[in-house]
Amino acid sequence: CSQVPEGWRFDCYPERNVVVTEDMCHARNCCFIQSSRGNVSAQNGVPWCFYTPDYPSYELMSIVDTEMGKVGKLLRNKKTYYPKDIDALQLEVLFEEDHRLRVKITDPTEKRYEVPIDVPVVHKRASNPSYTVDFIKEPFGLIVKRTQTGAVLLNTSIAPLFYADQFLQMSSSLPTRFIYGLGEHRSNFLHDVQWNTLTMWARDVPPMELTNLYGVHPFYLSMEADGNAHGFFMLNSNAMDVVLQPAPAVTWRMIGGILDFYIFLGPDPSSVIGQYLDVVGKPAMPIYWALGYHLCRWGYKTSNKTWSVVKEMRNYGIPQDVQWNDIDYMDRSLDFTYDPSGFSTLPDLVKDLQRHDQHYVMILDPGISNSQPPGSYWPFDEGKKKGIFINDSNGDILIGKVWPGLTAFPDFSNPDTHEWWYQNLQRFHNKVPFDGVWIDMNEPSNFFDGSLNGCPDNELENPPYTPGILGGTLKGKTVCASARQKISVHYNIHSLYGLMEAQATESALRRITKKRPFIISRSTFPSQGKYSGHWLGDNRSQWKDLATSIPGMLTFNILGIPLIGADICGFGGSTTEELCVRWTQLGAFYPFTRNHNSIDEQDQEPTAFSPAARTAMKEAILLRYSLFPHLYTLFHHAHVSGRTVATPLLFQFPTDEKTYGIDKQFLWGKSLLVTPVLDAGRDYVVGYFPKGLWYDFHTGNSLISSGEEIKLEAPADKINLHLREGSVIPTQRPNTTLWVSSGQPLHLIVSLSEDGRAKGDLYWDDGETIDSYESNQYAYIYFTVEQNTMMSEVLHNHEEATYITVETASFYGVKAKPENVTVNSQEAAFTYLDNQVLTVTDLGLNLSHNFTISWM
Ligand code: NOJ
Repeated sequence: CSQVPEGWRFDCYPERNVVVTEDMCHARNCCFIQSSRGNVSAQNGVPWCFYTPDYPSYELMSIVDTEMGKVGKLLRNKKTYYPKDIDALQLEVLFEEDHRLRVKITDPTEKRYEVPIDVPVVHKRASNPSYTVDFIKEPFGLIVKRTQTGAVLLNTSIAPLFYADQFLQMSSSLPTRFIYGLGEHRSNFLHDVQWNTLTMWARDVPPMELTNLYGVHPFYLSMEADGNAHGFFMLNSNAMDVVLQPAPAVTWRMIGGILDFYIFLGPDPSSVIGQYLDVVGKPAMPIYWALGYHLCRWGYKTSNKTWSVVKEMRNYGIPQDVQWNDIDYMDRSLDFTYDPSGFSTLPDLVKDLQRHDQHYVMILDPGISNSQPPGSYWPFDEGKKKGIFINDSNGDILIGKVWPGLTAFPDFSNPDTHEWWYQNLQRFHNKVPFDGVWIDMNEPSNFFDGSLNGCPDNELENPPYTPGILGGTLKGKTVCASARQKISVHYNIHSLYGLMEAQATESALRRITKKRPFIISRSTFPSQGKYSGHWLGDNRSQWKDLATSIPGMLTFNILGIPLIGADICGFGGSTTEELCVRWTQLGAFYPFTRNHNSIDEQDQEPTAFSPAARTAMKEAILLRYSLFPHLYTLFHHAHVSGRTVATPLLFQFPTDEKTYGIDKQFLWGKSLLVTPVLDAGRDYVVGYFPKGLWYDFHTGNSLISSGEEIKLEAPADKINLHLREGSVIPTQRPNTTLWVSSGQPLHLIVSLSEDGRAKGDLYWDDGETIDSYESNQYAYIYFTVEQNTMMSEVLHNHEEATYITVETASFYGVKAKPENVTVNSQEAAFTYLDNQVLTVTDLGLNLSHNFTISWM
């Protein structure tokens, strides 16, 4: 036992709240060594009770080739210490793509619960896989290597495999300690592998470290020693622990379902994400105004108060695309109603927004009041009639409690529920013509633990092993695990509630608005990006929360939900002017930018502050609006190729290890570097610049980095933005709504590389039609610069591009003042500054035509 190095000790006694004694440990036939570090269990240190290297596991009885890969038989001949071992298993290894391997381990005799999301069904074996798969017979192990480098991406032989009815466990070594993803948790972007247990089970709780939060995403991206990257996805929705330990190694510990996982070989980080999203689905292309500035709060007591906020924003000329309402608008917190006294003018407010090219979004919670007089509340009456609510284990409607008091919960795993949800939305839309929907409390959150009547005492409520869920029980702040839903027990599909509600809402909005649906959901699961965006939940108005929003945003980008942001200026607690200014500056670079505030906190709309603060916020939002053509193009690449919008630095510099831990800075796409101020009282910020030539986005001043930290000035009204050499970024003259803004002339910003090259692109469509790209209703323009000539090439044309002119182009890094500049061979006006910025003005070029700009 003592031969096993501490970092390689795999926990044989993961149960919480027990002091593991030597006797207890030996009863499991494990090694017992009290470690100097840590406590009684691996939750916070080296486990005292761990498996012997030859601990009994499964034996591989046979393995044969199939059309898609291999199929094998596994047999366990010694029981584990959990009930209902499944002794005989089927192993399927599917060579699905050259860069994608899938492994499925199932019970061949009895069908078990499997996650009901669509994944590709492949019939043809990969012709030239970039991986090799090896098997160890006994104890059974699976080893996956990257063929080209020999890097070991998976090695399950390091700890025994468990496959009991309610306890599945598999461990693997990791090639390095650099591992990302595994949401939803509050942590650094780079996970800690020092005995770090990440528990997954959707939960309503203000984000804090080491706790299961709103969403569940069993996917990680891992770096290999040479800068290659791969991904791993465990397709399982049961409650689970994912344990990281310093070996480095990972342990998956799930309490149901099957073992079904994918490995994505990249080899670069962006491709890994694209390959993951090939499986779970790529994010939707957002409706254009989703990318505008959103204003929300809990506690606008009337529609007129809400309206006055909008009017004030207009008065100050601060851009705003969307006004939201929280639960205040409802009549007694009832979904699909509005307060007839305080919100009597709500329909007029919504129409007024729409007349001003603005939009309206309101909240909906899943809890439906069951206690209104019969015949007075259609959503419940109709839902009861249709039998679409979640039932308890006796088959009666399960009653919980949310804002309106006692509630039933729609069962979104039932297609009938989708139809009922649609009808509710349509009926409400007839009264209040909202544009989008915010789905909150969908873990689902319940103010009772389980239900009004508690939960039965059975193996679903009290499984043999409970992961490290906040509060220690599955039913905590949600419905009973043993509750019955159409497709399964809640135990299996709890963490899919937010996804399924988003699916229902998405299809309803398509039918109602006939435009790209706008939905923001609190609870999320893999494939969520196809249906909704997300926000990071109930943060606080603290500098720390400002900083942690960046890892949160980056993590959701690699999880395929790029439409992500945190509550700007903070939700709980009171913000300060300085914090709110800095947050609005960073928030201007969240892919989804919304200021949201809790009830009874001090006002934090941009209009609530001093003229200087107000102006700084306005500038930040205008800057974002000016970048809309670029941001929209990045979303297009997310939608089509699964690219990130907010991008971790390591994605662009995977061989520079100094970028691996960076989460105080990030990129938009490949080249726009954002370096926000994250501390109080600072007028400077230190940022890391990977090796190469960078330009200040605002001035065009260049800086050359050897791969070093650089101190930047950051007065209160400035956010630092730098452009990596070699890019072309389309910007647009901003306005107070994206509708107006997106018709304005373009200003192309070009950052020349050392050798005078650059490239960039622009995707453009009408901003709201469903499937514009898929139905060819878009324009795509590619810009290249070399040898003092920029070419704009229309690779796909569409009428929408004809409405746009290119008015100005600035070239950063033009080493000498040109004698003349020509545009399509005609001489053109230009300016040249000492900092090597050439600007060509009055271009008047139509975007839908190819053009060239040259200088000599
Ligand atoms: C919880 C949400 O996270 C928060 O954003 C919202 O304001 C409250 N529910 C009230 O609806």
